[in-house]
Amino acid sequence: MRRFVPALALMLVATTAAVAGETVSITLPPESIALKAGPGMDQAQTACRMCHSLDYITTQPGGGAAQWQGVVTKMMKVYGAPITEPDVKLIEEYLATHYGPR
Ligand code: HEC
Repeated sequence: MRRFVPALALMLVATTAAVAGETVSITLPPESIALKAGPGMDQAQTACRMCHSLDYITTQPGGGAAQWQGVVTKMMKVYGAPITEPDVKLIEEYLATHYGPR
């Protein structure tokens, strides 16, 4: 038992260091989709590629304001997308304008 104590102590130190420690950085895979240019494009790009590719937007059948509003609300309420209030409106308008009914 005695011999395990130093090992345990060492593990504790290592764990604490990792928790208290360094910033973790990740590299996202390159995005192959370019959204159409327009007001709100930057915000949509940032908010919507956090969890999945932007082709989730470009491969949808074009939807009106209500449909895109539903999508954005679902991403926030169901999946926890952290989108700030002013960006929500902007992104919804952007999506309805550029990815609206075809
Ligand atoms: C917090 C993570 C997250 C963020 C941020 C996010 N999504 Fe999603 N999205 C998901 C998940 C999870 C699914 C469903 C699982 C799947 O099919 O991969 C999904 C699916 C979708 C779908 C497919 C249809 C559906 O309703 O399931 C669309 C369209 C979509 N997302 C659009 C968006 C748009 C637009 C944004 C930016 C406003 C966004 N997503 C941001 C997690 C996210």
